[in-house]
Amino acid sequence: MLDLPARHARLASALPLDDALLVVGAGAPVPLPENTDQTYPFRAHSDYFYLTGLECPHGVVAYDPRDRAWHSFVPTVTEAERVWEGREQPPGEPLEQFAPWLAARPARRIAQLGAAVPGVVADAEFSAQTRAHFLHARRPKDAAELATLRRSAAATAAGYAALRAALRAGITERALQVELETGFFRAGAQRTGYGSIVAAGANAAVLHFAPGDRVAQAGDFVLVDAGGEIDRYVTDVTRTYVVGTPSPFQRDLYQVVLAAQQKACARCRPGAEWRDVHLACAVDLTAGLVAMGVMRGNPASLVEQEAHTLFFPHGLGHMVGLGVRDASGLLPGRPKDPRPCLRTLRMDLPLAPGYVVTVEPGLYFIPALLNDPARREQFRDCVNWNLADQHLGIGGVRIEDNLVITPGEPENLTAAIPKES
Ligand code: GLY
Ligand code: MN
Ligand code: MN
Repeated sequence: MLDLPARHARLASALPLDDALLVVGAGAPVPLPENTDQTYPFRAHSDYFYLTGLECPHGVVAYDPRDRAWHSFVPTVTEAERVWEGREQPPGEPLEQFAPWLAARPARRIAQLGAAVPGVVADAEFSAQTRAHFLHARRPKDAAELATLRRSAAATAAGYAALRAALRAGITERALQVELETGFFRAGAQRTGYGSIVAAGANAAVLHFAPGDRVAQAGDFVLVDAGGEIDRYVTDVTRTYVVGTPSPFQRDLYQVVLAAQQKACARCRPGAEWRDVHLACAVDLTAGLVAMGVMRGNPASLVEQEAHTLFFPHGLGHMVGLGVRDASGLLPGRPKDPRPCLRTLRMDLPLAPGYVVTVEPGLYFIPALLNDPARREQFRDCVNWNLADQHLGIGGVRIEDNLVITPGEPENLTAAIPKES
């Protein structure tokens, strides 16, 4: 059950508002560029959704720490909206009452979160600071969020089972996408959490590949990164398969990523700094590549030189839940780590119970990186370039699960999707 008063109380005590007002906008529908009366599908800003559970265009939440009262102002649904869209009146106070609420509080500093609200003049820097605290306060998932995430994970597992049953030489990426997403929707998903990635062969080296009409051939890697969404809560899973029998090189590469992913999952304990979990995983992946003869040298010093970014160019993961990146980011007050190899790390904070994170290491043979003359020169002695060149075109392997951090071992929400075969 959604316990909004508990969320409001948690935020009221977590936000350093002092005497400032908090205003949170849902946002407005965006019209399609053509001359139609249609809009892009409306999604309330996640800051607003978290506080209301509503998909309410133009809605506004307002809070004044002096009277400690939360207000949800909503527009009155029109007859046309009832007739054309079947909309019903959401609960809340009439939106017209927001302007008088604000006018009764002149000269107060305003933190504005969510989407912009007409007529509100906010302090941009203070708003950004407040938002960092807001995101931080909602990082531990409450019971309602975890329950929804479990449903989303179950729908996602059903889609992966459908795809797995259809995977064979001769099938296109598009046909696999159809099986996968149909499986999500049959099992209760309302949307996909993001654009599904289904990538065969060399396409598996494109990190955010959109499926097309490529046919999966025997011996191809097929990398699938997708998840269902239920009531705005998203699962974000990756599995990598081989069509038919893997080559010894594919088997080794897969086992390196799998072992590194399992070790990284085991390190997801309260207090662990995410950047340390990421860097430890980078060392594991690099050690695997050294053992395979693809890289040369001491794994830890290769990671210090950032040579691992040739094959593992992204971060270990991010928060997931209310949106695919959820409340990722920095611990409030922490500056962004300037190391180039951490540029793509989507969060920098210590883990805590209730957080839900993805753990998604990968190793890829990406022509845009491996054919870059500057990198080949910089990492001349770190890579067996002959061997790397032989495998350009192989694609890559990523394995991604979604973990709930607990006081003890993490709980894997996506364990029902096989990855061991
Ligand atoms: N689905 C994109 C990602 O894994 O972050
Ligand atoms: Mn993913
Ligand atoms: Mn992810």
